[in-house]
Parts: sequence; C-alpha cells; structure tokens
Amino acid sequence: MVIIVGSRREGNSYHLANKVKEELASDRIYCNIITPGNQKIHICTGCMDCDKNGICDFKDDMKENIDLIKKEEYIMIITPTRWNLLSGDLKIFMDRLNPLYANKGLKDKKVILVSIGSKDKSLYSTESSLSDLHSFAEASLMNCILDKQFYNCLQDKDILNQVEELNAFIAQIKEKVK
Ligand SMILES: Cc1cc2nc3c(=O)[nH]c(=O)nc-3n(C[C@H](O)[C@H](O)[C@H](O)COP(=O)(O)O)c2cc1C
Repeated sequence: MVIIVGSRREGNSYHLANKVKEELASDRIYCNIITPGNQKIHICTGCMDCDKNGICDFKDDMKENIDLIKKEEYIMIITPTRWNLLSGDLKIFMDRLNPLYANKGLKDKKVILVSIGSKDKSLYSTESSLSDLHSFAEASLMNCILDKQFYNCLQDKDILNQVEELNAFIAQIKEKVK
C-alpha cells in the first residue's frame, strides 16, 4: 500500500500513517509513506502535454511517486482539513498525477480516504474535506473501498488518544486488504 500524507508536520496525519504502517506490517502488508509537502514537487502549469503523451516535463520527486503508485493495488490518502477543504499539498500532488491518469494508470486502484480535523463532528468540516477526496477518486476512476473521518484533532498527537476509533479503523483496513 502507498499512504499519501497531506500534512507536512509530524501531526495527526503523520501519526495515523505510521500507526497503519506498523499495524499492517504485523500482517505482512507493507506500506510506503509519501509526504508530498516534504518533497520537491513543482506545481502543475496546466500545459496539458501529459494528456497527449503521459509525460510531464518537470523532473522532480513525482517520477518516483508515480512509479510507486503504478505498482501498488491499494492507496490511502490522508488529508488534514483546511478551511473545510483538502490540503494544498495534496491538491498539488493530485494535479501532478495527471500523466498517470492519462495512461489509465489510476483506474480501478483501490483507495482508502481519510480526513482529519480539529472541529467537532456536528460541524461537518471533515465531511466536507472528505468529499474533496471522494471527488478526486471518482474523477480519476479509482475505487473507494473505505473512508473515515477523525474529529477533534487539534494538537499534533490528538488522534493517538482516540484509541477505540483508531483500532476499529485499522481492523476495517485489514479486513479490506487481506
Ligand atoms: C490553515 C488551517 C485551516 C484549518 N481549517 C480547519 C477546518 O476547516 N476544519 C477543521 O476541523 N480543522 C481545521 N484545521 C485544523 C486541522 O485540520 C487539524 O489541526 C488537523 O489535525 C491537522 O492535521 P495534522 O495534525 O496532520 O497537520 C485547520 C488548520 C489549519 C492550519
């Protein structure tokens, strides 16, 4: 599995990704974590050349990311909620996946979508950012097999205190990927 982490700080998204990685490793399912915000990734200019030939002229970390995603059946995307939306780091990353999409390289990938926010469930903020991820999955022809929202995560490790929620989510992931 490839886990894409939409926040560059060592916060809730980071801790969730690492917890999932650790738990799945005990079942011999191995994860690579990509944190686009900590990589060198140019912003898409919208030139559309990749629509014709599946090639992007920028030479940066997206080449290795795309090679990795090509090989994997499962992808997990974790977004911190920012203004009810997905993170900017993730949006830049998604735009740069267009060369892969142009070659039908995202079609039918099994994707797990997660949004994390500081607000309470009743404010629907993480629902809104999760819906951004669903829109991307739908547009890129991926197949969402599981989604999850984590609320009330403000401090960098708040998610680790939601032990029951975390364990239930990890059990669901294991069920889907075994
Ligand atoms: C610019 C900015 C905007 C944010 N907007 C929201 C929001 O609309 N709703 C929400 O629930 N949390 C919001 N937050 C809080 C983060 O989603 C929350 O702290 C989350 O746990 C961050 O994930 P991270 O720890 O992986 O960085 C915002 C944080 C920042 C920095």
